[in-house]
Order: sequence, then C-alpha cells, then structure tokens
Amino acid sequence: MSKTSRRDFIKTSAALTGGAMLGGLPLAQAANSLTDDSIKVALIGCGGRGTGAALQALLAKPNVRLVAMADAFRNRIDEAYKSLTSDDVADRDGVEGALKNRIDVPEERKYTGFDAYQKAMRHADVVILATPPGFRPTHFAEAVEQGKQVFMEKPVATDAPGIRKVLAAAEKAKQKRLNVVVGLQRHYQTVYRQWVDMLQQGVIGDIISSRVYWNMGALWVNPRQPKMTEMEYQMRNWYYFNWLCGDHIVEQHVHNIDVSNWVKQAYPVRAHGSGGRQLRIGPEFGEIFDHHTVEFEYADGSRMFSQCRQMPGTRDSVTEGFHGTNGIAPWPGRIQTRSGYTIWNHDDKNDPNPYQVEHDELFEAISKSEYKFADAENAAKSTMTAIMGRLATYSGQLIEWDAALQSNIDLMPAKLAWDAQPKLLPGAGGLYDCAVPGVTKVI
Ligand SMILES: NC(=O)c1ccc[n+]([C@@H]2O[C@H](COP(=O)([O-])OP(=O)(O)OC[C@H]3O[C@@H](n4cnc5c(N)ncnc54)[C@H](O)[C@@H]3O)[C@@H](O)[C@H]2O)c1
Repeated sequence: MSKTSRRDFIKTSAALTGGAMLGGLPLAQAANSLTDDSIKVALIGCGGRGTGAALQALLAKPNVRLVAMADAFRNRIDEAYKSLTSDDVADRDGVEGALKNRIDVPEERKYTGFDAYQKAMRHADVVILATPPGFRPTHFAEAVEQGKQVFMEKPVATDAPGIRKVLAAAEKAKQKRLNVVVGLQRHYQTVYRQWVDMLQQGVIGDIISSRVYWNMGALWVNPRQPKMTEMEYQMRNWYYFNWLCGDHIVEQHVHNIDVSNWVKQAYPVRAHGSGGRQLRIGPEFGEIFDHHTVEFEYADGSRMFSQCRQMPGTRDSVTEGFHGTNGIAPWPGRIQTRSGYTIWNHDDKNDPNPYQVEHDELFEAISKSEYKFADAENAAKSTMTAIMGRLATYSGQLIEWDAALQSNIDLMPAKLAWDAQPKLLPGAGGLYDCAVPGVTKVI
C-alpha cells in the first residue's frame, strides 16, 4: 500500500465529514497521518477493555500509534498509560518494551471529563470506544461526524433512544465508508465463523430453537467513598446502574443473544420472561437484577431460550446451542444428527485470539484503503434484543419489538456534570428502587 493512496483514503473520509477543517483544527493538525504513514489511534475509555483493545490495535500493524487518551477520570488514564508503556509489554515479534515507542500521548493529549472524547478523537484516524455502554451512542455519533474509523465495544446502548441514535450513525458511517468493527468478538472467532456458516447453510435443517446462556458467579463492586457526588459514585460503580450498563442481560448476555440472531439472520419480534434480584439486594448493587430468563420469538415462530445469572456458587455456563429439524448443534464447534451422531467437531485449541483478529482485520482494511466492516447496525439490533429482554423481565409483560424500539424512555441524565443528578437516586438506607414485575412500566 503506498503512502499516498492511504493518505488519500483518510483524506477522502475526512473530506466526507464536510470540509478542510475539523472541529476548528486544520486537518493536517487534526490527524498527522496526512503527513506521515502512521495510523493514529485515540482511546476513549481507558479501563480494562480499552487498555486491552489499545494493545491489540498496536499489535495489529507496526505503523499504528496511540496518540490520545480520554477518560472520565484521570487515574484511569494513568493506569492504562502505565500498563501500556510498561517495559515488559512485547510487540508481535516478542521484543519487550518495543511497543512503548509507538505510544505518543503527551500530557496535552490526555483528556478527562465528560467532553474528553470529542477532544481526543480529533487527533486520530481510528477511535476505540470502550466506556460503559450508556455513552456509546453519543461517542459513536461524534466519531462518525468527525469521519473516524471505529472500533467500539459492545453493547452499543442501554435504552431505545440510544439504539436509534446508533442506527442513524451506522447509516451515516456507511455513506462515509467508515469501517466500524464492534467487539462482539465471536464474529471474529474461527470456531463461530465456521459453525454459524454451516448452520446458516442448513446443515441441521430449519432452526426450531436456540439456547443462549451467560450464567456465572459474582462480579466487581466499587464501593462509595466519602465526598463522592452521586454522579461520581454511579460512574465508578457503573455496572449496577441501567443508564450506564443496561443490566447484565445487556452488558454481557448480548454476546450469546447475538449468536442466535446471527444464525437466524433475524431479530426476535417479541419476548416475555421473568427475573429478579435474590442475592444482590444491598445498596452497592444499584438497581440491576441478578437473574433473567427470557423466551424470545422470531417471526417464523422459532424460539430463543435465554438465561443469564450472576450468583456466586451457581453453575457457570456461557454458551449457545441450536436445535434444527434435522439435527442439533449442542455447543459452538459441534454438529450432530438428531440421533446424536457427531458429524462435525472443531477443535479450537490453535485458533487465533478473536480479540486480536478483530483489530488485525480492521487495521488491514484501513491500511489497504478498503471499506470492509459495517458492524454497527447488527450490534445495535442485537443490543436492542437484549434490552427487549430486560423490558420483559422488568415488567413481567409480553414486549413487542416495534413498541420497544420506539420507546422514548431515556435513561441518560438530563445533564452530565459531577454535581448533576442522575435520574435514579438512592432512597431510605441508600437503597435504589428496582423494577417490580407487574408494577413497573417500561415503555
Ligand atoms: N468484548 C468483550 O469481551 C468485552 C470484555 C470486557 C468489557 N467489554 C466492554 O467494554 C466496555 C468497558 O468495559 P471495561 O470492563 O473496560 O470497564 P472499565 O470500568 O474497566 O472501563 C471503562 C472506562 O470508561 C471510563 N469512562 C466512563 N465514562 C466515560 C466517559 N463519558 N468518557 C470517557 N471515559 C469514560 C471509566 O472511567 C473507565 O475507565 C463495556 O461496554 C464492556 O461491556 C467487552
């Protein structure tokens, strides 16, 4: 790939954003890649996954450079920066310390606060969006507006207004030919690619039902500290608040739900289910449930049976399976006849790491000036499926896709500032109101 044509590609993408100025900066300043051959990355959300994704981006190609970082909190930037620049981080050839030469994030390109994302993006060709999912719609829309190539984590929203915003931005990204990869990494995992392909080709006949599970033990909690405002507390302990997380049926279980949608090449039309919180009842657990069981119905009448649970001491099971008119796909990588005879079994021991593959393929496309990835629409619809499941378990009602997607219930705070109030506030004993099936209205 010549320098000129890659620069032209980035220039073309940038020009499509509407002119030679980007957010007040001349383009040459906004993305230095117009004057050299590096691919510049900005990391938005410098937590565990963001740090991992930045590393995978750097490993994808020797000309990738991390040039800007943004986080709500300064300490998270410092932790991520320290870990990425540590002497024992090796490049693809195993040379320790080699990667830190490609981390070029001086003080003035470390941005904190709620508007940090906009500033960091301006320096980059590619943005990694890895904050809690509540912010994803706004961050993704801004990235597309600024003409950036995108890697963003799942889920991509926590409520229906957020989903609609992502769908609109996904359409714009297509028009601008911006690559968008979403971290539903099973799409980049060999065993799933082969298994899903065979199921879509009808190797077990028509799919009658799927089973999708994310059942596990306990998860992290960030306790309230003295002097924290309510906004800071919810941001630090984000998993337990729906405007940020969406509940674990959305935050984690979207992976498995998405596999069913992928095989079916469709999204469910309605859902009903039950759920609640049995063990996580203290104030530190905010408002989310600790278990959900949902039956989703596709337009052809087939069903997806979903379970997700976060309870210590219970059986772990994170998997998917399919039942067809002619056979069974009991778990990823295995296909059997109806009588149980195995006709395909994939050993994934030597398969590449899908977290690396998603970056390898994205940066390969960018290097070759190719427009190859448009993951956002599917990610939005699979996230919406999970949200529909939450609406079903919270309300105890039958929830229809169209009504759920059109819902105007917006979970985001009216204002984002450290002294502003989230919509859900603690009541007596610091406890937060949780959904009560039969009482709670969700649409
Ligand atoms: N694909 C996967 O397998 C996988 C695995 C883990 C996490 N994830 C996803 O990655 C995302 C992040 O998860 P994590 O585990 O890294 O969480 P984390 O808490 O470790 O990191 C999130 C970071 O975002 C920052 N942040 C919050 N609001 C922000 C804002 N408005 N602007 C900038 N920064 C902000 C936080 O301060 C924090 O540093 C989630 O959507 C999660 O579902 C995906």
